[in-house]
Amino acid sequence: MKTKSPEIKKTWYKEMSVYQIWPRSFCDGNGDGIGDLEGVLSKLDYIKSLNVDAIWFSPLYPSPNADYGYDISDYKNISSDYGTLELFKKVVEEAHKRDLKIIMDLVINHTSDEHEWFKKGREDKNSPYHNYYFWRKGRGKKPPNNWKSVFEGGAWEYDGNLDEYYLHVFAKKQADLNMDNPAVREEVKSIMRFWLDLGVDGFREDVITYISKREGLPNGFPLPIGTGIEHYTNGPKVHDYLAEFRRDVLDRYDCFTVGEAPGMTPKLAKSFIAEGESKVLDLMFHFQHMAADCILTDWIRLPFSLKKMKKAFSRWQREMFGVAWNALYLENHDHPRIIDRYGSRKYRVESGKMLAAMYLCQSGTPFVYQGQEIGMTNIELDSLDKFKDVITFNNYRLFKKLHLSDERILRITNRCSRENARTPMQWSGGKNAGFSTGEPWFYVNPNYTEINVEAAEKDADSILNFYRKALKFRKENELVIYGDYKEHYKESRKLYVYERKYNGKRLLVICSFTEKPVRFITPDGFNLKKGKLVLQNYKNVSDSNVFLTRPYETRVYLFED
Ligand code: GLC
Ligand code: CA
Repeated sequence: MKTKSPEIKKTWYKEMSVYQIWPRSFCDGNGDGIGDLEGVLSKLDYIKSLNVDAIWFSPLYPSPNADYGYDISDYKNISSDYGTLELFKKVVEEAHKRDLKIIMDLVINHTSDEHEWFKKGREDKNSPYHNYYFWRKGRGKKPPNNWKSVFEGGAWEYDGNLDEYYLHVFAKKQADLNMDNPAVREEVKSIMRFWLDLGVDGFREDVITYISKREGLPNGFPLPIGTGIEHYTNGPKVHDYLAEFRRDVLDRYDCFTVGEAPGMTPKLAKSFIAEGESKVLDLMFHFQHMAADCILTDWIRLPFSLKKMKKAFSRWQREMFGVAWNALYLENHDHPRIIDRYGSRKYRVESGKMLAAMYLCQSGTPFVYQGQEIGMTNIELDSLDKFKDVITFNNYRLFKKLHLSDERILRITNRCSRENARTPMQWSGGKNAGFSTGEPWFYVNPNYTEINVEAAEKDADSILNFYRKALKFRKENELVIYGDYKEHYKESRKLYVYERKYNGKRLLVICSFTEKPVRFITPDGFNLKKGKLVLQNYKNVSDSNVFLTRPYETRVYLFED
């Protein structure tokens, strides 16, 4: 019987997959220990070989690096660490030659305190740039309200010269922009046009749901970090501002946007990304499936709960279907490596492939983070002073207040820090993992001798070659792109099983999240003997409809009528 799926509007961004580059750790072309655009140029063929269609660059702009590029001091230039604007144009050109689109990170909730706007507004209250930010008088000797930063102590920094405080929801050196000021919105549009005119194909919009702060900046509900967050997450004007950016700029280009959206739920997401007139972003990165082993933050860990993860994925799959479009990811520069969270170090290769199949076969635009495709893992540093990230420093202070020992904090940091995702890319088993001929800016994971691209290339059964195959399969099968989604065995704590269906074709995705054998019974309506096994992480697969799974086994079957 042929069932017809609801009509989904076909668009290029729904059919693409994206590779994320965190430039500092990707590939160093000039031997100064820092990844750069020369390095990127030398790897474009590699990226293309993954069967992705686009590159998202974490910020490449000039930055004092208080938050490694997410504190921008010049929006219309390229950091000298990474190259020049000319070199960037060459990257765009060379990428386009290979049919790879380029997506820039647009960080407009805040600028660096070393940005010209901030410096001018700080010198003079009468400067038009003063009102680019949130400058306020204190309450006596106290800051203007009780907000706390999510990165670094209080959310207000005092300036003696002006006798005023400025707001920073993130680090001290990341001053929040006042998006209520129309001049600031004009600046944002000008930045967008600058990069689009240069040929880029879209933006990943950093913490975009934070850009509108509640009028009057009222006190927030007291929390250990991030007090006040309810007054700027999905704030009152966020839709208006995004609609303005869309109308005045984005609609005039064939481009796409994905917004980073902490605290996002499917219901709320529809108000941003549902197809139609009110749509202000194409996709959103929500965080719900990344909380299956933690609560509130990556730093408060719980045992991994497969049911929690499945519930999050299934909810978004169900609720967005035919209405809006999902963004699919398991890793980025803000989280520890996924194999160490939802997979298994002992079964690194098996679980790395299983996790790939698990999310790449869902409905949505997939993102793959550098190193994920070779199964890179967390690093273990032996001393707290080796870490470099502002969040790590802040959490250290918080843990100290709770009287935790340094050993304990080191253990937590090794497990939870996002620096796990920021170690240099492991290209080869040679010096510095082939990342740099000089001294790398951050520690190379010692497991590079085993885990590296060169070794993975030579091994037909590597995680790398599995990613290639899975991404190719997705690209070549509309079923994987446009099919609907149905979950089986929802209550299982060990298996994640779902099907996709499109124009009479069906896909059955079977994923085991345990090393223990689980008795798998083929769901009603499927006969594995009639299916084509298109992805698998074990050889010698029987076609029996009941079988015992092997550790972290995955099988993906295609059924064509
Ligand atoms: C986003 C970025 C993160 C950064 C923060 C502040 O969450 O992904 O890396 O630290 O915003 O810009
Ligand atoms: Ca370099």
